[in-house]
Amino acid sequence: MTGNPSTKAVAKSDERILRVSAAMDEFENYAPNQHAAQIAALGDALAQKFNLAAHDRIFLRQAALVHDIGEVLMNREYILSSQMLTANERLDLQRHPVIGEQEAAKLGLSRAAQLLVRWHHEWWNGAGYPDALRREQIPLSARILRVVDSFAALTSKRPFRAAFSESEAARHLTEWAGIEFDPKVVKEFLTLEYSAKSETEFETNQSETEQKEPTSTFE
Ligand SMILES: [Fe+2]
Repeated sequence: MTGNPSTKAVAKSDERILRVSAAMDEFENYAPNQHAAQIAALGDALAQKFNLAAHDRIFLRQAALVHDIGEVLMNREYILSSQMLTANERLDLQRHPVIGEQEAAKLGLSRAAQLLVRWHHEWWNGAGYPDALRREQIPLSARILRVVDSFAALTSKRPFRAAFSESEAARHLTEWAGIEFDPKVVKEFLTLEYSAKSETEFETNQSETEQKEPTSTFE
């Protein structure tokens, strides 16, 4: 990603971004400022591991803070339902990254940050949405966002399931590396002090795993 936003422009949009972030966590029934802030912190830790440039770290943080604003704007009851989503509800929900991208534009976020919001549900094997990008077609920051969003969601109590322990969530990331997640990003994530290491040895057999179809976003 290129482009270097001025410090003034970043500061100006920061307050609005934090307001959106708080509204997002409230809508999704997370503890105030818990989910989005955790994703932003974990994402930045990974960004540093991958030596992302300062401006890319800013874009990733902004996108992390507002990534699910599309869900808030859609305001669907099923999002907080304890029931499994129907096929139609799942399709409807898949609109949220695009709606989020549009809202990120209205918030004045850079095009790079807008696209991270758009692509935060893309999967390494191309089975994600909205654009079914695969592998390096997905920007590294969006691949990072996918991993940290999943980890934060899994380790939080949701209306439809109990919270995973950190080691259970780490195991999930390991099992879905090469399918949903970039294996390199998962491997680095498991070295962070924030997360428990998976008890399963990290290895990915992509020839086997890439055939797997998505079953649930666990969010
Ligand atoms: Fe999302």
